[in-house]
Amino acid sequence: MHRVYFIGAGPGDPELLTLQGARLLAGCRAVFAPTPYEVTFASFLEGKTVEIPFAFYFQELLDRIGELLAVGDVAFLVPGDLTFYSPFQALVDALGDRAAVIPGVGTANAASARLKKTLDLPGVCNRAIITSPRTLGDGEGAPTLRELAAPGVTLLIYMNNLPLPELVRQLRDGYGGNVPLVLAHRLGLPGEELIRGTLDDIVGKTGGRDYFNLGSPTRRPALTLVLVGETLEATVDGAWWDFRRKHIWEERDEG
Ligand SMILES: C[S@@+](CC[C@H](N)C(=O)[O-])C[C@H]1O[C@@H](n2cnc3c(N)ncnc32)[C@H](O)[C@@H]1O
Repeated sequence: MHRVYFIGAGPGDPELLTLQGARLLAGCRAVFAPTPYEVTFASFLEGKTVEIPFAFYFQELLDRIGELLAVGDVAFLVPGDLTFYSPFQALVDALGDRAAVIPGVGTANAASARLKKTLDLPGVCNRAIITSPRTLGDGEGAPTLRELAAPGVTLLIYMNNLPLPELVRQLRDGYGGNVPLVLAHRLGLPGEELIRGTLDDIVGKTGGRDYFNLGSPTRRPALTLVLVGETLEATVDGAWWDFRRKHIWEERDEG
């Protein structure tokens, strides 16, 4: 039975494809690659049938997958991977046993690495929340970022659709003061930018540039991840390491 592999492709740089993803991709005759993956992964796609998944309505897409499966394995390059904010769940469900999901490097992982910061830190941050104002909704009674933001929280905000001054206003209400914020734009892609600032100065640092495509006639979310919280600027000494060494890892006389 031929299969459809939903391969976590990472944020865009093919160097972040896993070895398993690369091996399975090599064995597929047809690949659905959302823009810009058909460009950034071009060297992996030579000789294959390449299609853009969002050019199809759902049933058309299932029909097309059916045609392609008759002659070989099929791959979808999944931005980041399926874990968060992936539009491919309905396909995975419809394909049942024919679908296989391959993990990849999520945008959150790539951002953490780029910043060289763990996104929780004992004594600084005790929880991280992954969210998007787009999926929180904007109806009456819908929760707001204001309600999620709080001291001790690192927020990872995907697909932001709030104007930056409004986003900052909501976050300041929640945090109750100024905290570090980073706009991670086009991670792992040409034009990558990291704009580091705080709630107080980030609007000025963007120089009015629209990092969220809010002024664009299309409703397509921009490739910008917003990270907020004290952990982005915090540093630690070795005290926690030594605490763990002493209380968890030190050889003990079990008798
Ligand atoms: C539909 S979600 C896909 C998330 C993906 N499943 C993941 O695990 O990273 C799209 C959102 O992810 C973030 N994103 C995806 N790729 C990105 C990149 N290369 N750089 C920065 N943010 C990115 C942006 O917030 C964008 O609006």
